Amino acid sequence: MGGEGWREDNRANWDERTAVHLGPGSAYDLGPLRAGRGALDAIVRAELGPVAGLRVLHLQCHFGKDTLTLAQQGAAAAVGLDFSAPAIAAARRLAEELGLSDRARFVEADLYDAPRAIPEPGAFDLVFVTWGALPWLPDLAGWARIVAGFLRQGGRLYLAEGHPTAFVFDDAAETPNGKPGWYAPYFEREAVVMDDSTDYADPTARLRHARTHTWMHPLGEVLGALRGAGLALDWLHEHSRLPWRMFRSLVRDADGLFTWPDRPWLPLAFSLAARKLD
Ligand SMILES: C[S@@+](CC[C@H](N)C(=O)[O-])C[C@H]1O[C@@H](n2cnc3c(N)ncnc32)[C@H](O)[C@@H]1O
Repeated sequence: MGGEGWREDNRANWDERTAVHLGPGSAYDLGPLRAGRGALDAIVRAELGPVAGLRVLHLQCHFGKDTLTLAQQGAAAAVGLDFSAPAIAAARRLAEELGLSDRARFVEADLYDAPRAIPEPGAFDLVFVTWGALPWLPDLAGWARIVAGFLRQGGRLYLAEGHPTAFVFDDAAETPNGKPGWYAPYFEREAVVMDDSTDYADPTARLRHARTHTWMHPLGEVLGALRGAGLALDWLHEHSRLPWRMFRSLVRDADGLFTWPDRPWLPLAFSLAARKLD
């Protein structure tokens, strides 16, 4: 699974990024959430459906922006899990500040420890996983079993993620035409280890804990993992836009998402809903 130390390296990286994302130069805007009008990005907004009354588990919740938005939008319970202590501490502070602590709860744990950290099998109507979650996980079949274990019969997974085809490319390997260049093989099984001190949400930031270990997960592997865990696909969409500037050459569209300046060059994201079989 990519050698020793992947978890420690990744956690140190995310601990440091959390401070950057809560800092003044960050693209994360907490204004609407603080004003009681938290909004999910345009892709998720269009696809997720109402969450009022649902018990929601948000895996890899970062500092809880979306978890708290789901609570603001009426989720009966919103539980966020992340392995970064500063992220969970910030999420708890935000929940307190927004008066949402009665419905939003945050748990500090590794994803693969989630069933022990949240001993509530079958307790959730919706498991919510979005944007930059899967590449950090070495074992997708194990992840899917964990998701299925938390869902009630008939409960739903909503997943929105960067497209694995786009993860083959990176700006670090930019080509002469200004397009991102080839970075990692689509079918790579080993961890992709990278030292990159930049941050996607603050171009001025320079990270000291720059080393990351990520994994390529082809679309077929994602679908196979879900099926193997007893989750049936409702639908799958591919998108030519996404909520963060994955590549320098992307531009913002009218919905605030990032997309290609000319014709769509690569798929940038996919999203799906899957249901736990009765
Ligand atoms: C790009 S962020 C996800 C952002 C998220 N979509 C949100 O709601 O803002 C990735 C998150 O995954 C978390 N993470 C990475 N590896 C993890 C692991 N093994 N267990 C738990 N959380 C992990 C990081 O701490 C980070 O907060």
